[in-house]
Amino acid sequence: MDLTNHSIVSEFVFLGFTNSWDIQLLLFVFSFLFYSASMMGNLVIVFTVTFDSHLHSPMYFLLANLSVIDMVFCSVTAPKMICDIFKKHKAISFCGCITQIFFSHAVGGTEMVLLIAMAFDRYVAICKPLHYLTIMSPRMCLCFSVTSWIIGLIHSLVQLVFVIDLPFCGPNILDSFYCDLPRLLRLACTNTQELEFMVTVNSGLISVGSFVLLVISYIFILFTVWKHASGASSKALSTLSAHITVVVLFFGPLMFFYTWPSPTSHLDKFLAIFDAFITPFLNPVIYTFRNKEMKVAMRRLCSRLVHYRNIS
Ligand SMILES: *[C@@H]1O[C@H](CO)[C@@H](O)[C@H](O)[C@H]1NC(C)=O
Repeated sequence: MDLTNHSIVSEFVFLGFTNSWDIQLLLFVFSFLFYSASMMGNLVIVFTVTFDSHLHSPMYFLLANLSVIDMVFCSVTAPKMICDIFKKHKAISFCGCITQIFFSHAVGGTEMVLLIAMAFDRYVAICKPLHYLTIMSPRMCLCFSVTSWIIGLIHSLVQLVFVIDLPFCGPNILDSFYCDLPRLLRLACTNTQELEFMVTVNSGLISVGSFVLLVISYIFILFTVWKHASGASSKALSTLSAHITVVVLFFGPLMFFYTWPSPTSHLDKFLAIFDAFITPFLNPVIYTFRNKEMKVAMRRLCSRLVHYRNIS
């Protein structure tokens, strides 16, 4: 093969999961249900927070932002995967592949920063309740959400700048159902060891770093609550447990994915499914089923909608 002719590969082919028809059907039903459920659930959160003035507080604004990010996150890979399940030839163009990687890293990075902002919000609410509204001003909230998008975009661009020029000339089979950086690098026909190291440092360090930061801040908050137990802080504690659950579920698979040297491909795919379908679905479940204010707001929104329809 002529190695001077760069980028002969114009598309990549996914192997998917399995060729067994039964499992494909099961997978289709499972992913379709979870994808629809997470889109619906997150959409309901965004609507409720936007239209219910009782929820116009920093915590709920950040939560609505998280829901938007979750919707983008699962839409990057899930629709294509669902459409591909029954296809024999699951192909994606080179551009499509780069686009998937770009958005999944941008959105993933944004979500990490936003989770840190949400932890900071809980810290202020629990440890400095009297200054909550002055510290978490609307301007501060906006600053948090804009900063999180900027950091996400930079994180993603920094990695892609190096990948976009790589020569792809040989095999184009990805043993997966979506494009990810570690697998794509292994297909390039140059030595990508340094690049792989850069990706591990960039993605791995960011996810492990944010996770450690979050765990420390949660331990700190829990310690403060434990020292000054009061009514207000026990209410704050219940929202805190929801945050901790989300953080563990979001970072667990990611950290494994980017820091484990050579993951076995089955566990790998299973974790990827978990991150793509279950985590975005769990956010609304955790935040709404466990949160009284949110449930009341949804009921109020519902009755307002019904009322509105009856008038018109
Ligand atoms: C995201 O956060 C900003 C800043 O608080 C807020 O103005 C905006 O409404 C939020 N987005 C959504 C969809 O709620």
